[in-house]
Amino acid sequence: NTSATFALRGRTLAFRDDPFRVPPDQTIATEEDGAVVIAAGRIVEVGPAAEVLARHPGVAVEAYDGGLIMAGFVDSHAHYPQMEIIGSYGEQLLEWLEKYTFPTETKYADYQYARAGAEAYLDGCLSNGITSACVFAATYPGSVDALFEAALARGMRIATGKNMMDRHAPAALCDTAASGYDQSKALIEAWHGRGRLVYAVTPRFAITSTPEQLEAAGALWREHPTTLMQTHMSENLAEIAWVRELYPDAPDYLGVYESFGLIGEGTNFGHCIHLTEREIARLTESGSAVSHCPTSNAFIGSGLFDMKGLRDCAAPIRVGLATDIGGGSSLSMFDTMKAAYEVAQLRGYSLHPVKAFWLATLGSAGALRMDDRIGNLAAGYEADVVVLDLESTPLIRRRMRTVETLSDALFVQMILADDRAVRATYVAGEKLYDRDQASAER
Ligand code: GUN
Ligand code: ZN
Repeated sequence: NTSATFALRGRTLAFRDDPFRVPPDQTIATEEDGAVVIAAGRIVEVGPAAEVLARHPGVAVEAYDGGLIMAGFVDSHAHYPQMEIIGSYGEQLLEWLEKYTFPTETKYADYQYARAGAEAYLDGCLSNGITSACVFAATYPGSVDALFEAALARGMRIATGKNMMDRHAPAALCDTAASGYDQSKALIEAWHGRGRLVYAVTPRFAITSTPEQLEAAGALWREHPTTLMQTHMSENLAEIAWVRELYPDAPDYLGVYESFGLIGEGTNFGHCIHLTEREIARLTESGSAVSHCPTSNAFIGSGLFDMKGLRDCAAPIRVGLATDIGGGSSLSMFDTMKAAYEVAQLRGYSLHPVKAFWLATLGSAGALRMDDRIGNLAAGYEADVVVLDLESTPLIRRRMRTVETLSDALFVQMILADDRAVRATYVAGEKLYDRDQASAER
């Protein structure tokens, strides 16, 4: 489809290797005057503008002077119904769930309410440059339909699933082992693989599922091996103590999931702060992924994720970077990278900006088994692209005067930037967000 062929022109940023394995500055490829050719929703070519555009004579060019063109951000763990309780005061995990989260999620039984929430969430992602996410819906199948429909309309690669939860929550929010299985299976049949959509089998966490339900979740995931499996693990000390009481025979928290087959490639465990040596070894060996949710872990007071020990080490675990809204306090991946940096600092480890940007794109994509198609600016990848303004505020403009390298510039962005730095967001080659147009409409 040549009529759909066009090019973006500006400074390009791509990854050619894993910055946790190779010195970070050697893993990025950049062209000061670069071009990205896009056709039929995919990236065809990335390189120096003069050469690339000469190979595509007459191609329409959207020029972003001073813009940085890179892959869209990928949020590996979020809860769309919780957008409306972001920034809820004063509680730690279990009380926060009871006081704010569960009552709010019951509202998502209403399809129209859920649909409006899904639209607001996805539009919030796009204005923050997030083009893909792995998302918890609510218990109700309609809350999954609402998000998938909104994602399909936008052409976004979104993974989600209905929460399976059959105890320790309000009755209105609970399913049963059998209905959780049946409803999830029907949703997989209706949605998984449609467009760019992916289903994630979603037992909320070990506390809100009976052993019978985790058994059913394990069976369901085994029966649909191309789906993902997302849950929470080892976020908060009171949570961990309760899991130990509920599952006295398991060696540890991961052991609970393991005993029901909920471990391995395609699993995505949120938080993973207070892990044992055995859990770390099993996560590594099994190819499981974890999502680092730094604003959430700070905001709910859960603890300090060990980036060095889990990712910047000899036997790394797959790690994604995640907002975890609404436990997380921001929908911005800049805030999320900043919090990841600060948490690492508190543990005596400095998270290099190239590593942070890698985690926010390819790392998260890898945690969702999608890093062969999203998360990088490379030929053959789906054209999910964000264009950043590296001088979006007076403070940043001033700070950028002292910057010498691209990684310095990235660091300034992750510490100081917000959604004003997102000039445009493209999903499968379609421009779905334009900052200047949005501000003109405001
Ligand atoms: N553990 C179980 N459910 C949740 C949730 O909704 N948010 C967070 N942060 N942790 C959880
Ligand atoms: Zn979560």
